[in-house]
Amino acid sequence: MITNSTEMLQAARAGHYAVPAFNVNNLEWAKAILQAGEKAQSPLILQVTSGAAKYMGSFRLAYDLIVDMHDALHITVPISIHLDHGTYFDSLKTLGISYTSIMFDGSSLPLDENLAKTATLRDLTKDQDVSLETEVGTIGGEEDGVIADGEIAPVDSAVAMAKAGVDMLAVGIGNIHGQYPKDWKGLNFAHLQKIDDAIYDALGKRIPLVLHGGSGIPDDQVRKAIQLGIAKVNVNTEGQLAFHQGLRDYILSDEDLKGKNYDPRILLTAGTDQLVEMCLDRIRVFGSGNKA
Ligand code: 13P
Repeated sequence: MITNSTEMLQAARAGHYAVPAFNVNNLEWAKAILQAGEKAQSPLILQVTSGAAKYMGSFRLAYDLIVDMHDALHITVPISIHLDHGTYFDSLKTLGISYTSIMFDGSSLPLDENLAKTATLRDLTKDQDVSLETEVGTIGGEEDGVIADGEIAPVDSAVAMAKAGVDMLAVGIGNIHGQYPKDWKGLNFAHLQKIDDAIYDALGKRIPLVLHGGSGIPDDQVRKAIQLGIAKVNVNTEGQLAFHQGLRDYILSDEDLKGKNYDPRILLTAGTDQLVEMCLDRIRVFGSGNKA
């Protein structure tokens, strides 16, 4: 079933697990993510950045690819099709082509402008039953050309954004997009708790929080973050590394030189298989298996 992200994230928050949000980079990614989710019976968020949409052709092509793959594989678990780190323009565009969930990333804008644009998108998404994620502060590292070096979300901005009525909120708590440096200090759990409590004090309820840069964080830290309110974990780099390693091993073993193994439908399977394994492993750590 193709649905929005709201219900699955609320269930995750209440059930102390997190829904994996895997970035889709191409056809193999869409296939691997869906196969893993179905196998583990996990709800899924398949998310697309503007960089990935450009690579594949367009946001519409990425949307159609995911929908058609979902249908072709007879997927039964709930999935949402999500815009990852969208500009205001990307947000409007993907709303126009039926994405069921969007992230408007106004984190580089002044807070007032971020909130104003969020309010407009809140109205539009509500009308269309689409989920809305936003971000305050910044998340370190680089994501498909979106560069940010701040790491800790200001608590008052997080509360203001929660009051604006978003369905889920990305919070910088020391997390970084891409690979973590050796001297990384780890997630700031005290800050996560502070944000979650401040939102509860202001709203009288807790909302699903989102952890970006989910690749390469030690499992025990991911699990602890989930216990403290993270209900969506974004993973991209880990999939790229898994795919690369699978393909590299295959080629270095000279398997690609045998028979017709140069055929991309055979060659790329070595990477895709590792991608499926990576997704299954994250689902295990996030606790979302059998929650479909
Ligand atoms: P990683 O590439 O570090 O896993 O981050 C993914 C992400 O946060 C997408 O928004």
